[in-house]
Amino acid sequence: MTIEVKPILPRFGAEVSGVDISGPLDEETKRQIVDIQNRWGVTVWRDTGLDDAGHVAFSRIFGHVELAPRHSAKPSRMSEPELFDASNLDADGNIVDNESIRLAAGGNRLWHSDSSFMDVRSSQALLLCHEAPPHGGPTWFADTRSAYEDLPQEMKDRLEGLEATHSYFWSRRRAGYPYTEEEIDAKPIARHPVVHVHVGSGRKALFVGAHTRDIVGMEREEGRKLIDELIDWCTQPQYVFPVYYKPGDMAIWDNLCSLHRGGEYDDTLYRRDMRRTTVRDPQAEETALDHYSRMFAAAADTPFNPAEKTRDRILAKA
Ligand SMILES: [Fe+2]
Repeated sequence: MTIEVKPILPRFGAEVSGVDISGPLDEETKRQIVDIQNRWGVTVWRDTGLDDAGHVAFSRIFGHVELAPRHSAKPSRMSEPELFDASNLDADGNIVDNESIRLAAGGNRLWHSDSSFMDVRSSQALLLCHEAPPHGGPTWFADTRSAYEDLPQEMKDRLEGLEATHSYFWSRRRAGYPYTEEEIDAKPIARHPVVHVHVGSGRKALFVGAHTRDIVGMEREEGRKLIDELIDWCTQPQYVFPVYYKPGDMAIWDNLCSLHRGGEYDDTLYRRDMRRTTVRDPQAEETALDHYSRMFAAAADTPFNPAEKTRDRILAKA
């Protein structure tokens, strides 16, 4: 068996074939797949034949698979506790009719790195398509390693040693969710370097996206200008490509060397059933089993479970 790797961009993204990942894999094959993922940052697998359990089992070759957060306002459709429901469907399989959840989903259409708002970051995300809209519904990916490497030396020097704060609630605000700066101040915030070494490849990568709120030690306005400038830089045409899905197709992206965003489609009209697993940053020492739910519980008022005050504002806006 030979694993075939077909690059999408010269330095980023590849379609992988020639291996059946729906069954058990030997150690050598697992090692090769991890190497391919580390090299290309995003891999695309067509017609995988994976079911929910197989999806979770395959994900484990990359490391510790997180438990998905559960929200009281959105009962889960998922059969496995590790599966994150990235669909526009409710627990009964109908298209979601809830303005607060739809607004939260709008945040996913901004360029971001999943979980950058957590102290313990995520590395690989494995998104499997169960049902796709007839037109659109892609995921777009951006190469934050090549984008860093291509920066002028002057900018690399400027970024050296900088750290940024990241907040889930900040990206929701950017997407139109009615949080005030003061409310976001009171919620959990994470802090990460703006440039870090991507351990799987040894290459440096930028680490800013829609969750990135401020540059530590910089005036707020100046920091936000820099954050926007870096996101714009990373998402230039030479660094990005879309993945369109059919049922059974899967994209795997490494959040520590890429940004992504959900592409446009009419989510009030078309069903899009996507399920995701999330692998913990292999460098993390944190051993908590369910730190997502802990973070969202600490935040109390979330788009999935808004407090009365916020709910009134959403309804007023809708
Ligand atoms: Fe995402």
